[in-house]
Amino acid sequence: ISFFWEEKAFEKDGKLMSKDPSLCINKVGHALHDLDPLFQQVSYEENIKTICNQLGLEKPQAVQSMYIFKQAEIGGEVTPHQDGTFLYTRPQTCLGFWWALDDCTTDNGCLYAVPGSHKIGVNRRFKRKSPPMIGTVFEPPIQKEPFDLTGALSLEIPAGSLVLLHHALVHYSCENTSSAARHAYSIHVVDSKEGIEYPEDNWLQRPGDLKFKTM
Ligand code: FE2
Repeated sequence: ISFFWEEKAFEKDGKLMSKDPSLCINKVGHALHDLDPLFQQVSYEENIKTICNQLGLEKPQAVQSMYIFKQAEIGGEVTPHQDGTFLYTRPQTCLGFWWALDDCTTDNGCLYAVPGSHKIGVNRRFKRKSPPMIGTVFEPPIQKEPFDLTGALSLEIPAGSLVLLHHALVHYSCENTSSAARHAYSIHVVDSKEGIEYPEDNWLQRPGDLKFKTM
C-alpha cells in the first residue's frame, strides 16, 4: 500500500501546504484490496464477480485498487488515457470498476469519457524496461496522435454510482477547483483464464508471497 501526493500540495520550498497530510494525498494504491481487510471485503463482493462474468471475464482477478481523493482546490487532473495501457493482457481483458464516493460534478473533477472510443484499440503500453525490468517506460514513448476528445461526456453522477471502464475507453478528469474533495474507489480486474497472458513486463507485478487472487 503506497501513498501518492497531490502535485499541488507543496509550497515552493517543498513543504506541504496543509498541516494535515491527509488533505494532501492524491491516492492510495495499489493492493488495498489484498492487504487491508475492509477494502478486501468490498473488493471481493460476489456482485463484482457476477458483473465480471456477465461482461465476459471467466476467471476474474483483481490486480489493482486505488482510493482516489481528488482533494478540494488542489485535486490534480488525470490526462486522457486508456486503462489497457497500464494493465495489459494478451488479449486485452482489463475491466475497471470506479465507485463515486461523493457526488461528481464538472466543478469537483468528475470523470469524462469519449463515446465509442472503446472501439479504437489500445494504442500504447506503460511497461517495465527490458531486463532487468527496473524502471518504467511508455511504448511508443510519444503517443502518435492525441486522442480525439470530440463528444466527450461529463459523467456527473451521484455518490454511490458505479462506472464500468472498458480497457480501451478514453477517459480523463479535470482538476478539482471546488471547495470539497471528490473521493472515489476503483479496482481493475483482468481475466486469468487459460490462454490469457499477464506479461512479466507489465509495470504492476506482485512478489511471490502476494499472488493475485481469483475473485
Ligand atoms: Fe483510468
